[in-house]
Amino acid sequence: MPHADTPTTIRHDADWWRQAVIYQIYPRSFADSDGDGVGDLPGITSRLHHLAELGVDAVWLSPFYPSQLADGGYDVADHRDVDPRLGTLDDFDAMVAEADRLGLRIMVDIVPNHSSDRHVWFQEALAAAPGSAARARYVFRDGRGPDGELPPTDWPSSFGGPAWTRVPDGQWYLHLYAPQQPDFDWDNPEVREDFHTTLRFWADRGVAGFRVDVAHGLAKDLREPLRDLGEERGYEPDALPLDGSHPLWDRDAVHDVYRGWRRVFDAYDPPRFAVAEAWVRASRRTAYASAEGLGQAFNFDFLGARLDAVELRAVIGSALDDARRAGATSTWVLSNHDVARHVSRYALPPGSAKRDVEEWLLTDGRDPAPDLPSGARKARAAALLMLALPGSAYVYQGEELGLPEVADLDRADLQDPMWVRSGGRVKGRDGCRVPLPWTREGTSFGFGPGGSWLPQPADWGTYAAEAQRGDGDSFLELYRAALRLRRALVTDEALEWACSEEETRRGLLRFARTGGWHTVSNLSDSAVPLPPGEVLLASGPLSGDRLPPWTTAWLRTGAASAR
Ligand code: NOJ
Repeated sequence: MPHADTPTTIRHDADWWRQAVIYQIYPRSFADSDGDGVGDLPGITSRLHHLAELGVDAVWLSPFYPSQLADGGYDVADHRDVDPRLGTLDDFDAMVAEADRLGLRIMVDIVPNHSSDRHVWFQEALAAAPGSAARARYVFRDGRGPDGELPPTDWPSSFGGPAWTRVPDGQWYLHLYAPQQPDFDWDNPEVREDFHTTLRFWADRGVAGFRVDVAHGLAKDLREPLRDLGEERGYEPDALPLDGSHPLWDRDAVHDVYRGWRRVFDAYDPPRFAVAEAWVRASRRTAYASAEGLGQAFNFDFLGARLDAVELRAVIGSALDDARRAGATSTWVLSNHDVARHVSRYALPPGSAKRDVEEWLLTDGRDPAPDLPSGARKARAAALLMLALPGSAYVYQGEELGLPEVADLDRADLQDPMWVRSGGRVKGRDGCRVPLPWTREGTSFGFGPGGSWLPQPADWGTYAAEAQRGDGDSFLELYRAALRLRRALVTDEALEWACSEEETRRGLLRFARTGGWHTVSNLSDSAVPLPPGEVLLASGPLSGDRLPPWTTAWLRTGAASAR
């Protein structure tokens, strides 16, 4: 792969992202260079070769900006700097240069809906009077009730409790997440301009793309009087209206913001790429993913689906249709820093829904007892299915090691605001953020020379990259082989189903990609005949001409095209 001479020149392939494999790093938990127990940028740089060997195309970094960690770094005190515990801007540049040398692109997380309450703008807002220009960058309002002692509306925070907090002079400010995350007012041109500056700041430093946090939340209906939500207080995509009329989420005006961002992206050569984290109805995702907008939008339906052939076939079909309508490609995600790791999700009784996983976490992962070997087998089958689909696959750090969720973290160790804000009803997301094991033994299993900010389980070393490298049956080698083959096999974005609906009802998914590459998944408890062809890769051992339960295989059939 060609290398750029400096971090600011990016290889000239504007469409690199369309079928890319993008690896998500949660910086505090990836690799720690200085022994303070917190992962950092030099730690990432020292381990980038692992990602190059794995065969991914790009790396997306969750926030590494200055933060008091009220929400794991998504409370940003300065959008254009590095948290001193994680390094410096020079470390950032060194990381980009090393990524470039290895042929990897870097993407960063942009958090535009809110800042930290330690952001200089919010500090200015607190010091300024009601009605001032400093307060107008955020959403400050008087309260209701005779003394303004009631919040301005009934809007709930996504982490539990009200979305308003009162300041000493009696006004309230809006935070759709933690109180330490005040929401910006995106009607304010100063806010818009400042984010253009932030995008250029990182693009100029050689960043190839952006993951846009809470992309559907920026444009709020802040006209007076503010509207109560009443019965419609659910923020889940299916609870949102289809016409963009919700006062807070997925309003049409948000696309105005992204048209402005698109102009910023397109001023670069190649244009910078962006993917929206937008929890919206499927039919409204297209606008975020359009070429005039951000370019791609996360589709979490695959992640949210059960490992059920009928459900997945429907999810895949509609994701591909939506992406095609937007002129984009689909995204595929099995895990990220916000959900329990999928090895453990699949280890729970079939049909377990999000709520069941939350209940299970509250029992510290004991009830129901997870069947981890079965979860691992299913996770391998799901990975080969995902990696064969047209579009971009997002791999969450540690997924390539088959890490399970750490469900038994002590309550005293929990850091996720969800735990406290939900009054102990939701254990939160720490269990998927436990620092990675790199070596079998040693202090923090090679994570760093000191401890680790969340305790690692005693058997973490068995999952270490070191323990898996060279072991043909390991998760790591499965992912490496799949990514190597994928690079050679992908030619276009076509997919054609090669099994009947009836076969799918019995648990079979089979599709062809151009060039005679077929993927067949047996998502059932009984073996099925393996279609004829040369087996290129399988997620588990094959027995003769049978495809065992919960197994995916890639085959070359000799047929010339997907059509
Ligand atoms: C989505 C991020 O993925 C999550 O971790 C964060 O808590 C919220 N956005 C708020 O920024």
